[in-house]
Amino acid sequence: MRKILVTAALPYANGPIHIGHLVEYLQADIWTRFQRLQGHECVYICADDTHGTPIMINARKQGITPEELIGKSKEEHLKDFNDFHVAFDHFDSTHSEENKMFSEEIYSHMKEKGHIEVRSIEQAFCVHDDMFLPDRFVKGECPKCGAKDQYGDACEICSTTYSALELKSPYCTICQNTPTAKNSDHIFFQLNHFKDFLNTWVKEHNQPEVYNKLKEWLENDLKDWDISRDKPYFGFEIPGFKDKYFYVWVDAPIGYISSTYNWAKKNNKNFEEYWKSEETELYHFIGKDIVYFHSLFWPAMLFNAGFRTPNKVFVHGFLKVNGEKMSKSRGTFLMARTYLNHLDPMYLRYYYASKLTAQVEDIDLNFEDFAAKINSELVGKISNLASRGAQMLSKKIDGRIGTLDEEGLKLVREAQEKGDEISKYYEERSFSKVIQAIREIADEANRYFDEKQPWKLIKEDSEETRKVLTTTLNLFRTIAIYLKPILPTYALNVEKLLNENEYRWEDSKKLLENHKIGEFSHLAQRIQLEQFEKMIEEQKQNG
Ligand code: MSP
Ligand code: ZN
Repeated sequence: MRKILVTAALPYANGPIHIGHLVEYLQADIWTRFQRLQGHECVYICADDTHGTPIMINARKQGITPEELIGKSKEEHLKDFNDFHVAFDHFDSTHSEENKMFSEEIYSHMKEKGHIEVRSIEQAFCVHDDMFLPDRFVKGECPKCGAKDQYGDACEICSTTYSALELKSPYCTICQNTPTAKNSDHIFFQLNHFKDFLNTWVKEHNQPEVYNKLKEWLENDLKDWDISRDKPYFGFEIPGFKDKYFYVWVDAPIGYISSTYNWAKKNNKNFEEYWKSEETELYHFIGKDIVYFHSLFWPAMLFNAGFRTPNKVFVHGFLKVNGEKMSKSRGTFLMARTYLNHLDPMYLRYYYASKLTAQVEDIDLNFEDFAAKINSELVGKISNLASRGAQMLSKKIDGRIGTLDEEGLKLVREAQEKGDEISKYYEERSFSKVIQAIREIADEANRYFDEKQPWKLIKEDSEETRKVLTTTLNLFRTIAIYLKPILPTYALNVEKLLNENEYRWEDSKKLLENHKIGEFSHLAQRIQLEQFEKMIEEQKQNG
């Protein structure tokens, strides 16, 4: 039995879960479910990322405390995840005593081992709000092309990057006043001290295309990382300083550790086995936008503080909707909740799985493609096997599966033999290949069913018909087990339908013979394009 710890990136507590996020939470959920189904111990950990300026400002706007805001978020996030059948073993918050403790511990190692430098830097400061302004809170004209209303880090029109103080006619996005320049001491982590370690580390622990990017970064000296923010800030104060806080990206990944710690405490597990020794495999699932944090800063922090580093960082691409970036005005910035108001979560799980590969590729959610896939594959090819096979068996021949004849046995054995290939695809996160292989079994089963014409045969020979349906349902059952990591509730309904115990992966190797099945109920329904139109309409209205 393998012991595996899996994390997904911690969603910001500042907003709701959207369908872009779900690419990751579902990808990791499918992978962890697969591992558990195989009989491994696999723990899936996550938490809300609660600190930083946007959360503080947002809470202020709503007239509540940041603590209240993150409390509300956590409840909503948990409900969304739960309704999408994302089975975290533990979902925590970075705003916890334990996370503070680990942040201080990791920082003390940086300091004691001589990797910290304090120096004064000049930043945009709003006198009216009495605070330093993060880049996203300053806007003005691009110093290069003059485009109006550009953020303080880069111009969206000409792509020039600059510092907020270089903007022309800058203004504070909170109060619209003109910021001034002001100096203050900042604390820097000297990442370049870890260059040799990182040079070897990144090669072994990243996908090839990610490694290439990392190698480029490592060709130059790595810049010092500014890990402090001045008050007012919602976060943890840095020991030894007054009114200075850890930058949110310091304590966010440490949330992986503290969340595991709290999970271990709750479940009587030995925390050390997960973060202090290599006997557990450790994997981080993340999006391509946060590679720098996870494959440079993070391993350096861990290594320096005597924690184990991850086996692999698994990076996925971004979600597009109908070929374009998700957009609020088009209504395609779809919240998890809006989706749930219109469609069954299993369809999105199936659709994402059919698109996901082990590469860092963007995936496109195209509504027509989505509807066609669900209708023709999940409903037409797969579920139809059950509705045609099981209904006939129950209605016409006492609902009892018989024995397989030679032809049937051969077909079922062929489907079973695909199991190893399919597990390999799951293991390497090639879920699109999993779906492809399953589709091939379903095609074979449909071809068999249509050729045998049991709807005619039943009028002449009920025992022959029983054989045909026995083959069909055995093939269907194998498919359902293979699909279980992707469609857990669907598999549960199949367990009920076939009157069996909870499926494990090795059950796909067994035959179901001389067995009374359960009552039939529909497993999946066709979807209409209209349901997407309504969904988009609702999203537009909710902004
Ligand atoms: N809070 C940080 C992560 C800290 S991890 C120590 C963060 N939060 S996030 O809410 O913006 O994103 C959470 C995860 O969802 C990230 O891995 C991010 O890449 C992923 N995605 C966010 N939007 C996405 C898409 N549109 N498409 C695919 N993944 C997306 O980053
Ligand atoms: Zn201001």
